[in-house]
Amino acid sequence: MPHQAILWNPSWNLNIPSIDSDHKNIVKAINALDKNLGEQGEQRLMNKLFDALDAYTRIHFNREIDLLIECNFTDIENHEVEHSKFLEKIEFYRAKCSGEFDHEALKQEIRTYLLDWLVVHIDQTDRKYQKHLIAAGVQ
Ligand SMILES: [Fe+2]
Ligand SMILES: [Fe+2]
Repeated sequence: MPHQAILWNPSWNLNIPSIDSDHKNIVKAINALDKNLGEQGEQRLMNKLFDALDAYTRIHFNREIDLLIECNFTDIENHEVEHSKFLEKIEFYRAKCSGEFDHEALKQEIRTYLLDWLVVHIDQTDRKYQKHLIAAGVQ
């Protein structure tokens, strides 16, 4: 199946430039993983792709939580629990890719899971702080 890059959907924007740019970087890292994830045995490349996704994701989660604390937003704990689950899932897929796997099926599963998680998280969880952060002048 030819690779089709995930395009940024403007409906995912929160209109907070630093946050939107982080979210776009996570989508790029998912695309890179989806496009370049090799067959079994290509451990180095695979680890680099997972490392990049993990790094962009952590940078973003840290920035987001710091902003929520700075702006005295509530319910940060539940938000952090969701973030932790995503980081665990990245590691779960990294482990899965280091064993035997059906390459195309796993790639499809990873792409679908990660993208769906991100979109649902942006729309249901991140969106809760959108007005609060914009009102606080966060760029
Ligand atoms: Fe979040
Ligand atoms: Fe976010």
